[in-house]
Amino acid sequence: MTESSGGVLSRLVLNGVQREAVVYDRGPQLVFAGAGTGKTRVLTAKMAWLIDRGIAPARLFAATFTNKAAREMRDRLENIVGRPMDGMWIGTFHSLCARLLRRECRHLGFERTFSIYDQTDQLTLVRRVLQRLEMDDRSVSPRQILSHVSRFKNRCLSVEEARKTATGFYEQELVRMYAEYQKMLREQQAMDFDDLLMHAVVLLRDNGDVLSRYTTLFDYLLIDEYQDTNGAQLQLVKLLAGKHRRVFAVGDDDQSIYGWRGAQVENILTFGQHFPQTKVFKLEQNYRSTQSILDFANAAIAGNSNRAPKQLWTDRDKGARVTVTRFRDDRQEAQKIADSVKPVCREGKIRGGGDRRTLPYQCAVPCIRGSVPQGADTLCSGGRDGFLRTFGNQGLSGVSATPRESGRQYQFRTDLQCSGSRAR
Ligand SMILES: Nc1ncnc2c1ncn2[C@@H]1O[C@H](COP(=O)(O)OP(=O)(O)O)[C@@H](O)[C@H]1O
Ligand SMILES: [Mg+2]
Repeated sequence: MTESSGGVLSRLVLNGVQREAVVYDRGPQLVFAGAGTGKTRVLTAKMAWLIDRGIAPARLFAATFTNKAAREMRDRLENIVGRPMDGMWIGTFHSLCARLLRRECRHLGFERTFSIYDQTDQLTLVRRVLQRLEMDDRSVSPRQILSHVSRFKNRCLSVEEARKTATGFYEQELVRMYAEYQKMLREQQAMDFDDLLMHAVVLLRDNGDVLSRYTTLFDYLLIDEYQDTNGAQLQLVKLLAGKHRRVFAVGDDDQSIYGWRGAQVENILTFGQHFPQTKVFKLEQNYRSTQSILDFANAAIAGNSNRAPKQLWTDRDKGARVTVTRFRDDRQEAQKIADSVKPVCREGKIRGGGDRRTLPYQCAVPCIRGSVPQGADTLCSGGRDGFLRTFGNQGLSGVSATPRESGRQYQFRTDLQCSGSRAR
């Protein structure tokens, strides 16, 4: 470790394993950890440490899943390093791929000014595809077609590859629509969201010169929420990692909630197969929730299949016991929770400053998949103060309000506040 790295490390609060993960520098790394254990903190610290050791920000490729997360990470990083991170490739996979494609899309026969289609544009286009193919949108809805097309693209299946795997009339018809849809996109010099990933993969896979420029440009690839990556994202990371394989991924298989849109939890479970000689760091100390909530969460996820065992713990108080409340739908849930928060807000017991309508994000429990665990009644009885949302097998994002008995501070996720939105 150099003296200067001691400099930045001395300004960061990290526990032992977090610190080890930051300073490890001998190949691919996977920080495999539960919710609230500091994965994003470690990822940011890693970038700060690399920059402190002389790597230019423009040589880091850092991918997240929301623009908000990317902005926060950049802000945190600039705070730590103390200067703007000009030129750094930080953003969502989609925005990073768009940036790459704006520079290199001529290799794919696109103009730099290609359009990016949103869902409304896509639906309009699919309707025109159906017209061209003289198909009836009552037998198959445009949305269904788009979801099939998206599934092909998430696996990076070109029209030709999809055609080879199609069996039966229905699948062949889908491929025919996929082919026409891609043809029309190209005619209109447009890409849809999934194309950003797929075209980037194809570009790098089929153009050795371009690939070698970018594998040389990026000294490190850093990926947050790795459990949410799909097939195309895995391929992209593998291509960009090139021979150096300096990949730093953080994630939690228990928080894999985007299977319905192509996320493959096996990407994180088989990370070491894709990146041999991976060193795994496991974080289990949780900094967000009370022990009661963690016990509940641990019990709820223990029975999930296809997961790596992890046991979250905290050195905080046990806290109030968790109450399980069932709601008719997300609107009722949001309303009831907002109603319960209001008096607390009025009493001014929310920690942190800022806009009272959007409470500060302070605390959350791990996402819970599956149903309420057996024995939950005893775990969850009593205390009308705590809420914990559990989910059916559809596996949506998990949230909580976390009452802390000491000082009776209430902490909430912003996205629950009245709106009923489910943003992560
Ligand atoms: N070593 C630590 N000491 C104190 N607080 C920490 C530590 N590591 C993480 N935290 C805090 O815990 C919370 C969760 O961290 P975060 O990086 O967002 O976790 P994750 O990405 O694993 O969900 C944040 O408020 C963070 O500042
Ligand atoms: Mg995180």
